[in-house]
Amino acid sequence: MNKVGFIFDLDGVIVDTAKYHFLAWKKLANELGFEFTEEQNEMFKGVSRKRCMEILLDIGNIKATQDQFDTWMGEKNVDYLAYIENMNASEILPDVPKILKFLKKNNYPIALGSASKNARPILEKVGLLHYFDAILDGNNVTKAKPDPEVFLLAAKELEISPENCVVFEDAVAGIAAANSAKMISIGIGDKTILSKAQYNFKDFTEMSVDFIKEIIGN
Ligand code: BG6
Ligand code: MG
Repeated sequence: MNKVGFIFDLDGVIVDTAKYHFLAWKKLANELGFEFTEEQNEMFKGVSRKRCMEILLDIGNIKATQDQFDTWMGEKNVDYLAYIENMNASEILPDVPKILKFLKKNNYPIALGSASKNARPILEKVGLLHYFDAILDGNNVTKAKPDPEVFLLAAKELEISPENCVVFEDAVAGIAAANSAKMISIGIGDKTILSKAQYNFKDFTEMSVDFIKEIIGN
């Protein structure tokens, strides 16, 4: 049996920070004079900060100078950092520790594959950093999801071939990245939105350890 590696996205998979990203972008949109909906926010999931800023300006039909672009993007991050400042273990999504503990106990390599540049401090705040053998995030990549770069780098660090890696993702862009890396993609969230995932779960409470064993076995 080949060794299997597990790669977790962060925002919306391990912790419910997707709501904080949304609130911070919504605040900026409102300041710039337009609305920003949860539906539009789906396009922002898994996508780099810079790309989110570009999409937001498109939605608001706003032309920005480079200086404005950088300032507004910086403001969004300051607001986001304020939201996450007091995060603690209570904001870990249900049953995430169940899966992490099982994998760790059985010596399966675990990586983080996130688009966020704030990933490491968040893992520290919620007390999950020690589970991860490798952390690949927005600071390590040149190409954002749906490009598979972050997941391929994670596989490389874990020394596991991509086809033996399992990816947990809540974003359409992240599932596309996992699929194009030829990894096993597991959608966490709305099945209709994440229809390109190989397997779907509403959240980790729906996922049994037996399912993980089955994946490892295959
Ligand atoms: C992803 C989020 O994990 O990280 C995106 O799903 C976010 O919504 C991206 O834009 C970048 O995050 P950050 O923390 O670097 O602004
Ligand atoms: Mg995510």
